Amino acid sequence: MNMHKYEKIWLYLGSATLLFFLIVVGVSAFYMGNQPPSCAVTLDPEKVRDHELFKEPGLKQIGENEYQLTIVASAFNYDVGTDDKVIEVPKGATVHISSTTTDVIHGFEIAGTNVNMMLEPGYISTLTNTFKNAGTYTLVCNEYCGVGHHMMAATIEVVE
Ligand code: CUA
Repeated sequence: MNMHKYEKIWLYLGSATLLFFLIVVGVSAFYMGNQPPSCAVTLDPEKVRDHELFKEPGLKQIGENEYQLTIVASAFNYDVGTDDKVIEVPKGATVHISSTTTDVIHGFEIAGTNVNMMLEPGYISTLTNTFKNAGTYTLVCNEYCGVGHHMMAATIEVVE
């Protein structure tokens, strides 16, 4: 098959670009640990508080250096299980995060980390994260959810 020179150039260029971006995605996923959040599990959005996970939101130790963090979002609050909305997480621990919303769609972003999920009514959003650096992180809602959207936040203290 005879191919025009320009066609060959574009074919190589296209293939190289594809390969380059696949490598970027691969490095991001397997080396830097960027994983998409999962929302494969459903629940009745009207009965979030009856669900085993969300009866008592907050941080629970489930193994050696392994924790389960559950948070219930609602307009315009994150119920993290504490009155001051501060959660203390040990540095380097594996934290399995589960969250959902009791009303509208909310965001779930822990600024400065890879944690960024959308909370949809009827779905449990989950993501596993290890906080590698100590410090104060802010959990913010990044989906516009109403008049109190800008006040929707909580604090995560990563301690040594
Ligand atoms: Cu919740 Cu914006």
